[in-house]
Amino acid sequence: MKILITGGYGFIGMYSTQRLLSLGHEVFVFDVLSKPPSDLAANFSGATAIKGDLLNPLSLIEAIKKYEIERIIHLAALRNNDSKKFPFSAFKLNCEGTMNCFEAARICGIKRVCFASSVAVLGKFELFRRHGYNIDSLPDDVPCSPTNVYGVTKRFCEMMSEQYNNLYDMKIIGVRLPIIFGAGKKSGSRSSYYNELIEKSSIGEAISVRAVVDEKFNIQYVKDSAQAVVCGCLASEEVSGIFNTGGVVLSMADYVKAIRTIYPRSQITIIDDPNATTVDDTCIDSRLAAEVLGFEPEFTLEQGIKDHMATLNS
Ligand SMILES: NC(=O)c1ccc[n+]([C@@H]2O[C@H](COP(=O)([O-])OP(=O)(O)OC[C@H]3O[C@@H](n4cnc5c(N)ncnc54)[C@H](O)[C@@H]3O)[C@@H](O)[C@H]2O)c1
Repeated sequence: MKILITGGYGFIGMYSTQRLLSLGHEVFVFDVLSKPPSDLAANFSGATAIKGDLLNPLSLIEAIKKYEIERIIHLAALRNNDSKKFPFSAFKLNCEGTMNCFEAARICGIKRVCFASSVAVLGKFELFRRHGYNIDSLPDDVPCSPTNVYGVTKRFCEMMSEQYNNLYDMKIIGVRLPIIFGAGKKSGSRSSYYNELIEKSSIGEAISVRAVVDEKFNIQYVKDSAQAVVCGCLASEEVSGIFNTGGVVLSMADYVKAIRTIYPRSQITIIDDPNATTVDDTCIDSRLAAEVLGFEPEFTLEQGIKDHMATLNS
């Protein structure tokens, strides 16, 4: 199948490209960047580069028509930290850019767009706890009340996708991804310290992290995130909707323990800090995605950690 990926030169885009190519699909990377960062270029050999701006829907429509695209994976977005710093830019790229993508797909007769949503749409787990939910495993259909700009923009995309599905009989799928670790994640992002804990531990360098030690969060290895978006893209023609596609649910104490098991020389200090809560990173139950999309994480946490370092060192 001919599949276009918006934001394909990003972190998840690279692994999604590799996964699709390995499954024998034709991949078209639509990105504002004209080429991938030079050290990653080899990962895109076999994919077609399309330089384009999602904020110019005509460039997307032209690309879809020129290459006879059949399905779209939509990943281009401003991430959490940057959305907080630049709320209007977050609105432009995450909301308007997504609308441009849905609209371009509609105009070109493409029914399936799979876009990356986030657990940030869910909001504070305290609220769920108060309403009697099991906060270690929230289902797909809980009421959302996002607490940050990023979560609000992603919830907008989810809600508009439902409207497009209803109004135009499209089959848009949103996959809610949790915290992600893996080689290639931008440093400086809100959750990049999950990578740093692994990388510094692998060379025995000291690192400290502030966390509510026993608070649970949901974390996923990036190759499983790529699997989630690819499953959403390739799901059968009748399927549409929003799906939780999470990873492992664990506490910071458990995460550090897993790293220490692999790297006994690691020197991680956890500073128990009640203010370092990960309230936006609610834990999700992915059973529906397993049943309907065939999404099943392929990596245990330990396998993900090892594969992350193997990828970095390759
Ligand atoms: N990385 C995570 O931890 C995480 C977690 C949950 C959800 N997500 C979601 O997954 C998706 C991919 O995330 P990522 O980490 O790969 O992001 P990323 O920032 O690594 O990549 C984004 C890509 O989009 C491109 N882009 C930016 N503006 C564009 C525009 N106007 N037109 C075309 N391309 C443009 C960038 O050049 C970049 O290659 C996003 O929608 C993000 O919100 C990510």
